[in-house]
Amino acid sequence: MIGRLNHVAIAVRDLAAASARYRETLGAHVTVPQALPEHGVTVVFIELPNTKIELLEPLGDGSPIARFLDKNPDGGIHHICYEVDDILAARDRMLAAGARVLGDGEPRIGAHGKPVLFLHPKDFCGTLTELEQV
Ligand code: CO
Repeated sequence: MIGRLNHVAIAVRDLAAASARYRETLGAHVTVPQALPEHGVTVVFIELPNTKIELLEPLGDGSPIARFLDKNPDGGIHHICYEVDDILAARDRMLAAGARVLGDGEPRIGAHGKPVLFLHPKDFCGTLTELEQV
């Protein structure tokens, strides 16, 4: 069912510093920061030939990545995102298999303007997993 790896997301405390590290040290192309208030994050994307890296910085109070950064003060891999053809079919398959879909189970519009869902890390090898319809 899952398709390509769409991105790996890394939570960071300082998006400007992290972007500079990727741009200057690794020689990567980094997109301009995009604030996503409804997700509680500001993001940039590192565009690689075969996938993307998403750098996430907390935005506002109660950001979903604030607690993650408390536990991982240097930052760290926060989630991975796989592409699916049909997000509702994917959700129903997850639920039928007993996997937990976070939130109210309805897809939300993610950073790429496409519908996304998040799956509970305890059901996927300790890794927060995002599905994105492409
Ligand atoms: Co993501």
